[in-house]
Amino acid sequence: MMMTAKQTWIDEAWGKALEKTKSNSERIGAGFPHASQDGKYVLEAPNWWTAGFWPGMLWQFYAESGDESLKAIAEACEQQLDEVLDGYVKLDHDLGFMWLLTSVANFKLTGDEASRIRALKAANYLAARFNLKGRYIRAWNPWREGEDNSGIAIIDCCMNTSLLFWASRETGDPRYRHIAEAHMDTVLEHFIRPDGSVYHIVSFNPETGEVTEKLGGQGYAPESAWSRGTAWALYGLALAYHHSGKQEYLHAAQQVANFFLTRLSEDHVPHWDFRTSGATGDLRDTSAGSCAASGLLLLAGQVTASESHVYRKGAMKILESLYRNYGTWENADEEGLLLHGTSHYPENRNVDVPLIYGDFFYVEALARVKEAGPFYWE
Ligand code: GLY
Repeated sequence: MMMTAKQTWIDEAWGKALEKTKSNSERIGAGFPHASQDGKYVLEAPNWWTAGFWPGMLWQFYAESGDESLKAIAEACEQQLDEVLDGYVKLDHDLGFMWLLTSVANFKLTGDEASRIRALKAANYLAARFNLKGRYIRAWNPWREGEDNSGIAIIDCCMNTSLLFWASRETGDPRYRHIAEAHMDTVLEHFIRPDGSVYHIVSFNPETGEVTEKLGGQGYAPESAWSRGTAWALYGLALAYHHSGKQEYLHAAQQVANFFLTRLSEDHVPHWDFRTSGATGDLRDTSAGSCAASGLLLLAGQVTASESHVYRKGAMKILESLYRNYGTWENADEEGLLLHGTSHYPENRNVDVPLIYGDFFYVEALARVKEAGPFYWE
């Protein structure tokens, strides 16, 4: 078969990402990388919300390459997460990010029963965070003694609800899906602005369910438009439509996607927040770009042919720019795959560095282009 120019760079990007990941796996092993500092990924405790991305990336490569050494590391990461799952107290709403990319991935690829049970336990803990009055999934536990954040819900949870949709399918019990849909309906009502941008944090009165405040969170300001939060919403709504078939989610996913695509910078990679009026300079968030690209590719398969073209073209422009302008392919002294991610600008944490979720979604998006699934959110 003749290779087109497009296929050539996709295959090159995939090959370079795989090569670097294999090399990284020798140092990182079954650790939990988050952000790269001075060329090396800093490893976090397994309870940090990012724990699924490294094993998830290894599963994605294993599915395509059959490389058993990658599978063994992913399994070892998953086993370490048992301490977090059984320890319970450190679990928050990120159960989806953590167990979809470890146990659900393992179960999908190998049929491992222990992984299925782990993922079902995680889904039960996630379901138990649902606040019936406000119809939201509680985000966090108190960060410090005495703090009450039982009324807080955040846009990131759009990605976590896929674990609940999976559990309903797996058990035949609709309760998990009911909770996922109730939360996503709340996202439609309270998080999405008419222009397709989103709030990061909405605070509810946990007793009455009334909205009390909308907060900027990891974005620049309460009324700004944090780009990774926008990507979480875009992809999470497309997933909610995939799982439920509810047209409202598809409509909202398109609204958010249209906002995202029309706010991109000249090189197609998003600034870390779309509404800073230039106050934070040129700072990008490549992780928002790669996450949105994967979501756009899913969305492209859910809409009419002409709309599909817009979303696929948008995703490909982001991916190609990330490959050509932000990749670290020739730099053996950098473990991250993509430069210029921004984790938490307001708290000045991990700003302008490679981030493991940027790398994960980049690999996942390439796998979508290569039609080399499965995809663990689905
Ligand atoms: N709060 C998770 C994130 O940084 O997107």
